[in-house]
Amino acid sequence: MIRSLAILGTLSLLLLLSCKPTEEEPWHPTPYELPSPLFFPTHNNIPADNPMTVEGVALGEKLFHEENSCAMCHHKEYSFEGGPDATLEHLGTEHTMLPLINLVWNTTGLGWKGQVETLEDMVYAAYTDPLEINADTAEVAKRLRQSDIYPELFKKAFGTDEISFVLVEKAIAQYIRSLVFANSKFDRYLKGEEQLNQDELNGYLLFITEEGADCFHCHGGGTNALFTTNLLYNNGLDAASKGEFKAPTLRNITLTAPYMHDGRFSTLDEVIDFYSEGVQYSEQISPLMHHVMEGGVRLTIEEKAQLKAFLHTLTDTTPLTPNPQPHVVP
Ligand code: HEC
Ligand code: HEC
Repeated sequence: MIRSLAILGTLSLLLLLSCKPTEEEPWHPTPYELPSPLFFPTHNNIPADNPMTVEGVALGEKLFHEENSCAMCHHKEYSFEGGPDATLEHLGTEHTMLPLINLVWNTTGLGWKGQVETLEDMVYAAYTDPLEINADTAEVAKRLRQSDIYPELFKKAFGTDEISFVLVEKAIAQYIRSLVFANSKFDRYLKGEEQLNQDELNGYLLFITEEGADCFHCHGGGTNALFTTNLLYNNGLDAASKGEFKAPTLRNITLTAPYMHDGRFSTLDEVIDFYSEGVQYSEQISPLMHHVMEGGVRLTIEEKAQLKAFLHTLTDTTPLTPNPQPHVVP
């Protein structure tokens, strides 16, 4: 309630003078060219009724970063998660956060439980969830219609200044689809532009072999450079199972602590110790947790350091933006 009042307050600040009707001009948005990095999927989730445009992405970016909007929780510098303070206690949400990167290639459901089908639906869910933005969508659209800047931006993006919440969903979804991260040290290694050192290479070999650390079935690698399958598994965190959760991407994993759906681990060392010797058997455990009967993959101290060195090569804080972005943020 307090949050939604705050939103009304903020948006009403945007209400300056009433906007004058814009003259009819032809609508020619600029198609947004999605990059196709090496070993990324060819199939994406761009819906036929929401093609990406440079103007749509720019509008979505502005809406995303409004006060009391998505960026309250999803911070750019932490791979669009919340950073080290985003514990369950701080967030007040049911689960910890997920990074908003490379989601244009997620075709199997969003959220820890894969509970939301499309990015457009996720925008609606985040705005209306009492634990997230907790806003009235009709009111949001109304305030935007009354603002002195947004009608023109919607017109550029969608050819109309009749702002509805559906267009808010579309714009923010386009922005999230533009967040492509594929320029880590590991990507440059794949392209032959940079070498991995011996520890990083050994870590990669551990990652992609069953007799090694056995991570790749769920977290990709090899010809799956998303570093996730985006599917749900039970990875053996507890003997009393809480069911299956999405295997998050391991890209930018150095930036997204705390780890797991409940944030139980605060460092990668703790995560690696868990997979090495802390895996718990339950009836729901994924059959891909091949080493559960030994309590985990049993890595030596040296192997743990190598695996961690490899995970560090997956960090990249600069999204690929192939098109010049019109600078709409004043
Ligand atoms: C109060 C903090 C908070 C705010 C505000 C928030 N989110 Fe989130 N977001 C979360 C949490 C927590 C999750 C994980 C939710 C879950 O699945 O249980 C999440 C998950 C997501 C996911 C799923 C990612 C994936 O890999 O499946 C998307 C997409 C997303 N948010 C987009 C948005 C957008 C768009 C907005 C603004 C309209 C927004 N969020 C506002 C906390 C927040
Ligand atoms: C059977 C599939 C599976 C295998 C194999 C697996 N993981 Fe995971 N991983 C998951 C799932 C599912 C989660 C989320 C679990 C949860 O939060 O309940 C996860 C979470 C993680 C996280 C935390 C991600 C975050 O953003 O919170 C890291 C880091 C991680 N795994 C690394 C690894 C490494 C390294 C290996 C190999 C040693 C590995 N995983 C093997 C399925 C798997």
